[in-house]
Amino acid sequence: MSRKILSKVDSPRNITNHEKLLDANDFIVSKTDTKGNIIYCNEIFTEMSGYKASELIGANHNLIRHPDMPRVAFKTAWDLIKEKKEFFGFVKNLRADGGFYWVFTYITADQDLKGNVVSYTSVRRKPTTSAIDAITPVYKLLIDAEKRDGMKASEKLLNDFLNEHKTGYENFVIDLQKGITP
Ligand SMILES: Cc1cc2nc3c(=O)[nH]c(=O)nc-3n(C[C@H](O)[C@H](O)[C@H](O)COP(=O)(O)O)c2cc1C
Repeated sequence: MSRKILSKVDSPRNITNHEKLLDANDFIVSKTDTKGNIIYCNEIFTEMSGYKASELIGANHNLIRHPDMPRVAFKTAWDLIKEKKEFFGFVKNLRADGGFYWVFTYITADQDLKGNVVSYTSVRRKPTTSAIDAITPVYKLLIDAEKRDGMKASEKLLNDFLNEHKTGYENFVIDLQKGITP
């Protein structure tokens, strides 16, 4: 029997404020092909997202994209991982029931022996509450800039913010997880 592969159009319309918290001892793991289509997910991923593994495999990762996430966050991620660099970030994800969960995520490129990128792997853990409190208004400003003037504007805003605080994107994010605000 053929299996329906879910896509963004299948994600819930009834977005709620119901948060599911990731346990401090748990990790959410997934692997994608080079386009971001899920090829592996662990059990915690299915529990947190509310989808079955059979629904997630083959679906693009944007199935769980939350509208509160600025586009520039994903652009930053893809720009880095395509260059075989690591990405760290805070991501608010959309659950199948319309609720959400926050993660502190790490994404890296998997390479073959010749250095070709063959897939991507992501591991996420529980973000600190202080980090989410700090990043939420920043994401809001970035989304507002995107709605008003497009992604170039939010990219500029993010870079200006980092320059103003004399930090880089990765240090900013890792410091936030440690409770250090710029
Ligand atoms: C390994 C890997 C893991 C990803 N994990 C997530 C995730 O948990 N949530 C998410 O919204 N996007 C994730 N993405 C990014 C998505 O591929 C996509 O860029 C993002 O959801 C924005 O989609 P859109 O541009 O279609 O709106 C991941 C990408 C990769 C390569």
